[in-house]
Amino acid sequence: MKKIKKITALLLALSLLICCAFTARADGDAPEKSADIFRVSCTVNGDPQTSRGFTWYTREIAKTTLTVTDESGADAGAQISYRDAFEWEGNYCHQAKASGLESGKTYNYSINGEPFGTFTTDDGDDKLEFVVVADVQASSAENFEKGANTVNAALATLPSSEFIVNLGDFTNDSTNEEWDLYDEAFSAINASTTLVPITGNHDGFSCEYWFRNMFCLDESESVEVKDGINYSFDYGNCHFAVVNTNDLISISLAQLKWLKNDLNSTDKDWKIVCMHKSPYTLGKDGKWPDAMYLQKSFTKVCDECGVDLVISGHDHQYLRTKSLKGNKLSDDGTVYTLCGTAGSKRYEIRSFLAGTFTKTEFINTLIIQKGGYGNYWNGSDWNSTDEKNIGGCFNTVSIEGGNLTFNSYILSDELTDESGERLITNTDSFTLTKETGKNEITFTGDNTTSAAAYTASVVPSIAALGAYAFGEWLPKFLFILPKIIKVYIEEDTF
Ligand SMILES: [Fe+2]
Repeated sequence: MKKIKKITALLLALSLLICCAFTARADGDAPEKSADIFRVSCTVNGDPQTSRGFTWYTREIAKTTLTVTDESGADAGAQISYRDAFEWEGNYCHQAKASGLESGKTYNYSINGEPFGTFTTDDGDDKLEFVVVADVQASSAENFEKGANTVNAALATLPSSEFIVNLGDFTNDSTNEEWDLYDEAFSAINASTTLVPITGNHDGFSCEYWFRNMFCLDESESVEVKDGINYSFDYGNCHFAVVNTNDLISISLAQLKWLKNDLNSTDKDWKIVCMHKSPYTLGKDGKWPDAMYLQKSFTKVCDECGVDLVISGHDHQYLRTKSLKGNKLSDDGTVYTLCGTAGSKRYEIRSFLAGTFTKTEFINTLIIQKGGYGNYWNGSDWNSTDEKNIGGCFNTVSIEGGNLTFNSYILSDELTDESGERLITNTDSFTLTKETGKNEITFTGDNTTSAAAYTASVVPSIAALGAYAFGEWLPKFLFILPKIIKVYIEEDTF
């Protein structure tokens, strides 16, 4: 199918080229070089108090210049370092990093003199607010628009949001056409703030460079991976570690080592990990060893390093665990939040998973965003329906000193409020509290993982997953297999 699409696109492009050539000859002009700029984004890159990364595309190879100005329009004096422009899938990708900015200041940026967007640097205080969305995973203009509506509702709900965390699966197939549709729907949003993008398994499906070529991120101290990017940054009194769960396996031994060192290299009060796949889920991925291996491997690092909150996506439902440590309930543990989908592809509960790979006593809140299924885990059943929960999910996080408040919302597909606006329902809310100033730095070395070290870890990583898959996952899977077959026959769900 992809080949047919590529051949069709190639033929169309050839036809257009021939038409353009004839037009140009008829006019007696040289062929026009289009410098149309598109797919523009501003991303976290290095220290959010002083720098940002930028990506933009042109249809033809063209020299382009990034300018950063302050609110008065004066040049901000930023140091701009450019990555060499290069051809990517028929277009030209440009990336640059602007550094040397002042903290707590709003800037505008232009490309070739054309204004594109604005961002505000971190002021470094211990108050921080941001928006979290996941899995728009659209193919059509209509569904990208629905996803953008959810994100706009999030920004309207939390106007003081300092950035957007997007937990991945920006598109469905990572084609030129889909990224252009994404760009059309999201360009105004992307122009208004800073993005913190996380690689999803659909962001470069069978093509390892799409994510890297859409977002300019700091890979200077990271793990070499085949697909996607691991990175980290401090913002306010928080440390964020972003983990790519879409490589050869959901997480490699090299990544676990990098994550542990990274989380031990900060004394920020809050430690938050953002990733695409979820260790705890009742969605369709919750039955496979790849995702469930995260319970065995990744959560141990969270336990050891005092991670407060894990925010993830992938399974297109909202699920929040109670505080967990060592795969057990614990007051001094980590809360895992599967952040629903901002899009319109929504997953049912896989009831055969409850009590097996994800224990029901771990679940605090469960919201299924489609009709006919339970939308709230009340401790004994989920077979209730609330039409207010049918819509796109978005989440907000507000941190002030030792308080972190997380809210989840649904933007209703159909229902409206008294003023005729689409109904927004606050479906979950929780606050974590802690004593600040307690975290200590216990790792100060170089956390870069070379390509050789990564390659050397591939076989042991696969062996570790294999040991889990055969030793722990398979017996449980075989035990629930009759239930899986029954649900498949009765509900056509797998
Ligand atoms: Fe996914």
